[in-house]
Amino acid sequence: MKGLRLLVLFSASCFCMAELEAALTSAASGDPTKGKVLYANNCLICHGEHGKGDGLIGESLHPPPTNLTGSQARAKSDKDLLTVIREGRATMPAWKNRLNDQDIQNLLAYIRSLSE
Ligand code: HEC
Repeated sequence: MKGLRLLVLFSASCFCMAELEAALTSAASGDPTKGKVLYANNCLICHGEHGKGDGLIGESLHPPPTNLTGSQARAKSDKDLLTVIREGRATMPAWKNRLNDQDIQNLLAYIRSLSE
């Protein structure tokens, strides 16, 4: 009986880990409506209103901000884009200390909705 209970507990925790992994690496858990507000406040200045990389500051950056609606960005996995948002790259700032993980998921969901 005890063995069975342990087994149930064990499978339940495996399930949670899988859920957590999915939540941390996919856009499915993000809310694009919330992401849009975050995008307007934090990203638009560089990436532009429609994500084309033509924001006010963006035009003067080298390398320029990625066109988030372009085929190159679209072809990248959620995990890769989340990593750039969290860690930054070149002049792209890191957001992990400024935005929480849910915010970053919401941003990813919004970015994905731009390219549809
Ligand atoms: C100061 C300007 C600036 C701001 C603000 C900024 N970015 Fe960027 N972003 C960049 C630049 C420049 C790159 C390209 C970096 C490179 O080519 O290595 C980039 C790249 C990216 C990429 C990688 C795309 C790819 O194809 O790999 C993503 C995703 C991204 N930004 C999302 C965001 C989000 C979301 C925000 C707001 C939270 C944001 N950026 C704010 C400048 C900015």
